[in-house]
Amino acid sequence: HLFSANDYLRQHIRTVPDWPAPGVQFRDITPLLQNPKVFRVMIDAFVHRYMDDGMRPDVVAGLDARGFILGAVLAYELNVGFVPIRKKGKLPFTTVEETYELEYGSATVELHSDAVRPGDKVLLVDDLIATGGTMMAGKKLLEKLGAQVMEGAAIVDLPELGGSERLRAAGLPLFTLVAFD
Ligand code: PRP
Ligand code: ADE
Ligand code: MG
Repeated sequence: HLFSANDYLRQHIRTVPDWPAPGVQFRDITPLLQNPKVFRVMIDAFVHRYMDDGMRPDVVAGLDARGFILGAVLAYELNVGFVPIRKKGKLPFTTVEETYELEYGSATVELHSDAVRPGDKVLLVDDLIATGGTMMAGKKLLEKLGAQVMEGAAIVDLPELGGSERLRAAGLPLFTLVAFD
């Protein structure tokens, strides 16, 4: 291949050392969003995978906050609805919630109880998979409402943190564009 979307996109992800804490290599996707050509290549990589009949979801669910950027554009392009999974205290209607462990402490995410219907095929989207805790919580929320999470999609995977392996072991297929060791 003369052109690899993976290498092209990798070049537009900025690594910020020691942010937000010492020892963390923060993988910043904002340069990738800022450049219209790169943004399009990134979105199209997902659109091409999910527009085929067998892979088209009924709904795209996006994880607060960076998962909204890719998730909403992808839903629009696939001509399906978008539902937000939000950090606790932001959604106004009845919700289901799920608490998960972070490196320090815990976090809770919520989903409107009418966001998906039993049997809906849902594509779960975020920007990045680290420990996998966020995406796992999203999967559990959607399953509480009887939906089937067909796949998890993210721009970046950090395989060394074991999240993608854990998610796959829990029965969630994953599609990611760029891995950083
Ligand atoms: C980041 C990132 C993922 C999550 C990955 O979100 O956007 O959602 O962490 O980590 P995990 O796999 O260990 O759960 P974060 O909650 O930091 O903030 P955001 O609101 O900017 O998306
Ligand atoms: N979320 C969790 N870990 C991250 C990292 N290393 N870079 C960007 N976002 C993250
Ligand atoms: Mg996030």
